[in-house]
Amino acid sequence: MQKLTLLLFILVYMMLGCKTNQTQPISQIPVIPIDTTQILTTIAFGSCNKVTEPQPLWSEIVDQQPDLWVWLGDNIYGDTTNMAVMHQEYQKQLQQPDYQKLLASTSVLGIWDDHDYGINDGGKYFAQKEASRDLMLEFLSVAPSRPVWSREGGYQSYTFGPEGQRVKIILLDTRYFRDTLMESSMEGKRYGANPQGDMLGETQWTWLTEELNASDAQFNIIGSSIQVIHDEHGFEKWANFPKSHQRLYDLIVSSEAEGVVLLSGDRHIGEISRLKLPEMPYPLYDITSSGLTHVYEEADEENRHRVSDLVTSLNYGLIQIDWENRQVTYQIKGENGATYASETVAYPK
Ligand SMILES: [Fe+2]
Repeated sequence: MQKLTLLLFILVYMMLGCKTNQTQPISQIPVIPIDTTQILTTIAFGSCNKVTEPQPLWSEIVDQQPDLWVWLGDNIYGDTTNMAVMHQEYQKQLQQPDYQKLLASTSVLGIWDDHDYGINDGGKYFAQKEASRDLMLEFLSVAPSRPVWSREGGYQSYTFGPEGQRVKIILLDTRYFRDTLMESSMEGKRYGANPQGDMLGETQWTWLTEELNASDAQFNIIGSSIQVIHDEHGFEKWANFPKSHQRLYDLIVSSEAEGVVLLSGDRHIGEISRLKLPEMPYPLYDITSSGLTHVYEEADEENRHRVSDLVTSLNYGLIQIDWENRQVTYQIKGENGATYASETVAYPK
């Protein structure tokens, strides 16, 4: 009987404990608010970050004195339907001492990928997506006035700087509305094409169309979590949804938005891909940086669009804007100041 009482006590204690964790706000750590009047010259970004692994890159990133840090997904590895666990994982990341140094010096934006969404390679049928979305926005300290809080999904946009020195950052949600992936019948490939499947959902497409059509920014940076240009590997990529893939390219071209560049993560590799789209006056780049704590060291894959080395060391991405010459340098960087890939692009004025 005594044992039963003790068991009951432990059970009630655990339930109350979980409840308390769930209702506490994630972050009480002071952050630097987003200042949209800022002229951005240095933007750092990255993805795939395990709380359980050493995180050696934050001090390197802080040394670059970026105006902004952009998370591109798998910011933590939650992989859970239990939002109390997700909450705890985010909290652990916020307690990471070197990440706290970044938070104390740089404004932070971001979007998720599958592992922080809650399910590996997950899409629109993930049951906890609403609660998980709120936890992500809390982790990122997204201001309550931001439109993302009053709609479904995690997609966001931010416009920085005065006329003539304007940067728009568009963060796509490739999870919340995404149709189911189609398994591949080809050996060595996990996924093939889902010919009718959609990546963003109509509401997000309408929003993205308006964001690009109305943009008066000189540089439009689109963060996508999964790779856009690389279309050969068998993992997650935009090419698994060919209609959406083409729709995105068509939209980028028809919007005539200036200086569009894609950023991606997810793959545990780094690389720079380039594509020349018909009727686009400059090449489109996809800068992939992944991961911050773990990489796919044995990676050895073809990518007909790759214009850099294939990076299989821990890495983060760096964008440096030369406003005077309308020139941008994209880099994939690593430990001890290493530069694994670098591409300087002059955009038409
Ligand atoms: Fe991922």
